[in-house]
Amino acid sequence: MEVKTSLLDNMIGVGDMVLLEPLSEDSFLGNLKKRFDHSEIYTYIGSVVISMNPYRSLPIYTPEKVEEYRNRNFYELSPHIYALADEAYRSLRDQDKDQCILITGESGAGKTEASKLVMSYVAAVCGKGHEVNKVKEQLLQSNPVLEAFGNAKTVRNDNSSRFGKYMDIEFDFKGDPLGGVISNYLLEKSRVVKQPRGERNFHVFYQLLSGASDDTLRKLKLDRDFSKYNYLSLDSAAVSGLDDAANFRTVRNAMQIVGFMEDEVQSVLELVAAVLKLGNIEFKPESRCNGTDESRVKDKNDLKEMCELLGIEQSVLERAFSYRTVEAKMEKVSTTLNVAQAYYARDALAKNLYSRLFSWLVTRINESIQAQTKARHKVMGVLDIYGFEIFENGDNSFEQFIINYCNEKLQQIFIELTLREEQEEYIREGIEWTNIEYFNNAIICDLIENNQNGILAMLDEECLRPGTVTDETFLDKLNTICADHQHFESRLNKNSKFLNDHSLPHNCFRIQHYAGKVLYRVEGFVDKNNDLLYRDLSQAMYKANHSLIKQLFPEGNPAKVNLKRPLTAGFQFRASVGTLMRNLQTKNPNYIRCIKPNDKKASHIFTDSLVRHQVRYLGLMENVRVRRAGYAFRQPYEPCLERYKMLCKRTWPHWKGPAREGVEVLMADLQIPTEEISYGRSKIFIRNPRTLFFLEEKRKQCLQDLATLIQKIYRGWKCRTHFLLMKKSQIVVAAWYRRYAQQKKYRNIKSATTMVQSYTRGWQARKLLRELKHQKRCEEAVTTIAAFWHGTQARRELRRLKEEARRKHAVALIWAYWQGLKVRREYRKFFRANAGKKIYDFTIQRIIQKYFLGLKSSMPSMSPIDRKWPARPYGFLDGVHTELRKIFHHWRCKKYRDQFTEEKKAVYEEKLEASEIFKDKKALYPSSVSQPFKGDYLEISKNPKYQKLNSAVDEKVLLADVVNKINRANGKGTPRIFLLTKKNFVLADQKTGQVKASIPLPDVTSVSVSTQKDGFFALKLKEGSASAVKGDFLLSSEHLIEIITKLHRIGATAADREKLKVDISDEFLVQFKQDKVCVKFIQSSPKNGNSVSCKRKNNRLLEVSVPTSP
Ligand SMILES: Nc1ncnc2c1ncn2[C@@H]1O[C@H](COP(=O)(O)OP(=O)(O)OP(=O)(O)O)[C@@H](O)[C@H]1O
Ligand SMILES: [Mg+2]
Repeated sequence: MEVKTSLLDNMIGVGDMVLLEPLSEDSFLGNLKKRFDHSEIYTYIGSVVISMNPYRSLPIYTPEKVEEYRNRNFYELSPHIYALADEAYRSLRDQDKDQCILITGESGAGKTEASKLVMSYVAAVCGKGHEVNKVKEQLLQSNPVLEAFGNAKTVRNDNSSRFGKYMDIEFDFKGDPLGGVISNYLLEKSRVVKQPRGERNFHVFYQLLSGASDDTLRKLKLDRDFSKYNYLSLDSAAVSGLDDAANFRTVRNAMQIVGFMEDEVQSVLELVAAVLKLGNIEFKPESRCNGTDESRVKDKNDLKEMCELLGIEQSVLERAFSYRTVEAKMEKVSTTLNVAQAYYARDALAKNLYSRLFSWLVTRINESIQAQTKARHKVMGVLDIYGFEIFENGDNSFEQFIINYCNEKLQQIFIELTLREEQEEYIREGIEWTNIEYFNNAIICDLIENNQNGILAMLDEECLRPGTVTDETFLDKLNTICADHQHFESRLNKNSKFLNDHSLPHNCFRIQHYAGKVLYRVEGFVDKNNDLLYRDLSQAMYKANHSLIKQLFPEGNPAKVNLKRPLTAGFQFRASVGTLMRNLQTKNPNYIRCIKPNDKKASHIFTDSLVRHQVRYLGLMENVRVRRAGYAFRQPYEPCLERYKMLCKRTWPHWKGPAREGVEVLMADLQIPTEEISYGRSKIFIRNPRTLFFLEEKRKQCLQDLATLIQKIYRGWKCRTHFLLMKKSQIVVAAWYRRYAQQKKYRNIKSATTMVQSYTRGWQARKLLRELKHQKRCEEAVTTIAAFWHGTQARRELRRLKEEARRKHAVALIWAYWQGLKVRREYRKFFRANAGKKIYDFTIQRIIQKYFLGLKSSMPSMSPIDRKWPARPYGFLDGVHTELRKIFHHWRCKKYRDQFTEEKKAVYEEKLEASEIFKDKKALYPSSVSQPFKGDYLEISKNPKYQKLNSAVDEKVLLADVVNKINRANGKGTPRIFLLTKKNFVLADQKTGQVKASIPLPDVTSVSVSTQKDGFFALKLKEGSASAVKGDFLLSSEHLIEIITKLHRIGATAADREKLKVDISDEFLVQFKQDKVCVKFIQSSPKNGNSVSCKRKNNRLLEVSVPTSP
């Protein structure tokens, strides 16, 4: 459903000043301030938009906002510049009415921003497509170019437009943009040569110097330093928030988009550079023989560079700065220029160069953006022109006069068009037209522009007059001609009432503009109006070998010498304003009145006096009065009925019939006085805002009542629904509860029944059981008695049978003994007495014989490690069997030993000794058993590498190996060759073979090793011996067992020395030079690595961590 909204909804203050009640300047300002404080910067006066400059970016220009305002009625939403732009665009597109948007306000009020907002809105809502987008882009991109050349920083605005701009945007019948035409008005060219304090020259100069590449600057013969150019004011060269370098790139890009050729851009930049150079040309006086001073160029370097840039012959330009040719009819007179005149000529040239360049740019842009088709266009004009300008201290000059004249004209057409629009609406709606009283400023326009005695006409007359013409003579003329005009005031006019007005100096005149009185100083009026450029200079320019310069000074063409005086600035301006006004009058006007809230360029500050001043001179109160003179408010019948229909029972909720009748019924019902309202064809007109507010108030009240009613009904409905729900729930709960209670009762009865039943059944069962048990016991008793009886019978029978059997056995035994006795007695007669022993011995012998023969056939092998031995056959041979096994083993060991050579014997002896020293004492021992003791691991005698070392040792080398000598300082090992002979051991460098130490073995008293698997050993030297000076040796070797066994054997065999002591312990002391260091062995987990590591823990402790075997 579409939500109907209205301007009247959620208003802060009033959105339309026409509705302000009571209407006074204070209430007007109060309303503006209230809205401004709530960031509502737009307010309407009817269809006029007042725009307050917020001086900060507000989130009200988003694409969503564009969509919100698109195709909506002007009064439908809160005031916005988009509403105006939309209204204008839609009337242009749908009603075929040409539009113009007039944006006025003082400098810094936001006119240029407003014009850009309008253009961007129109660009966003109009058609799309490749061609259309290109046109849009070109139109939008013309802004940065014109702003660079035509805008400057002033004290009032950092981006002040120093020219007036009117842009016609052309659309086709569908509303798609086709192109545009820009007109420019009166560029403030005096700024090129001089800028007021705190202001800058045009942006382009600073942009060029900051943003151009070094190469470009070199080509243009420019220096990046602003201070080198006389025409650039320095006191505000850098403006905060303005990035000149970035803007230069934007401008170049925009020029490209608009369609400037690369060489055109280059020419433009050359001209800009030439202006800067021109400012640096200085003059000095040179006395002539006739006593007059003639000017000469002081330093010709800048002149030369400028001439090179523009392709001008230096001497021609130089001459033009020193002489002036005056042509009259056929005569040519050459007069010299003094220094002041030369400076005047130089500045005039600079101003002309720049202003003509600017006009050329506008023409060039127009060429690019002009519509390509000749079909009929619809036009939307946007006018961004300087607002009314009043300088406080009476410093208003020719420019302000011209600007204020333009504003006066705009006010005039504003009043005319507003009234005309009002009148047209009344006629359209068939409402009777009542005359509106308002101030008509035509009289002021007439004072300025009248062809006979207007101020501009008189200025022209004065400029063209022969004889001495000064600003004073001009003022005199004004004084005589305009003396009686009621809007003209001057000290010397015939009306003596101003004689004593000291606020009006002698060289000034005052005009009472519609917006207030303005004091103009006549100084410079004549000069500025003349805008004289000596013909010699324009001819010099024409001669330039530079196509653009040539184009800019067509009057310099000697072939077309025009002796007529050029048109004055005032005349030209009056003519262009006239054209503009005629143009605007053919269009439907839309007004944007910009207001500056403060002169600090700051957000959130509302300076009452400043705004009041602007409200006055923009004639806004007048504006409201004109709007309210007839009817303050009007609205089409349909929205009106829709909005207020709830105020009358007959129209609420639905009115069946035409909307107008509905409104009439409504108004009659509300008893609105008939003089307060008029019924037009499509709209109702309300004379007084009070009536509208009465309606609004009623509506608000009614809305509240309606809201209460809706609330009441809703609450009733809600309570009822709630109650019904509760009721339904209660029934459900009760049903469930009853069911539960019944279920519980049933379960109780059921369990009680079961209980009783079980007791009864139990009692019955027990009774039955008792009976059964009794029966069973009786049966058992019978059986038992029977069993006992049978048992007694059986035992009795058994006893009888046993007795019988014993007797039979006794009989048989007695019989056997008897028989034996009888046999032995018989046998003894035939048998010898010692036969038993013999049989015994024979048997024994046979058994032993059999034992030996069996042993022989099952003898084990001759290997000493074979543990097999046949099992013993008879227990009585136990001792013999063990003894025989021992003898056999000893015998086969002897046999084995007998095969040994002497060396092998020695090796086994060593192995034996090693086992005596280390077995079960050091964990490394078992792994050494299977390794043969090779002795010379390095093959020292054969290896040529060790030849020198071998020869250094005269004894036979018993052991040669690489060991690690442990460094006390860090526990790290250094590889050393270890040689052992019968007399000493030698440590030598592994690489060079150089002997590092040779220790006689008698000096070695003991060896210390750990109990663990490491190869660390300390050789301790006898105290006081020569070798002990350097201290003990802490070494590590893979062949530790072999080394120590060999050392031990040498000690054991030598008769002249003590046996070498071998200490096996996990903590021992080693003497390093003076200090004793404890070497401690700890077990580490194999996780920390599988290698033995030695670390120095402190000065006195080396810790060796040995990984435990997995
Ligand atoms: N609607 C806006 N939103 C935000 N800032 C704004 C708006 N309008 C104006 N401004 C600010 O105010 C500054 C002055 O605005 P703008 O240049 O449009 O003034 P102007 O009326 O064109 O002045 P001049 O007559 O000197 O050219 C802008 O540079 C901008 O910072
Ligand atoms: Mg501007």
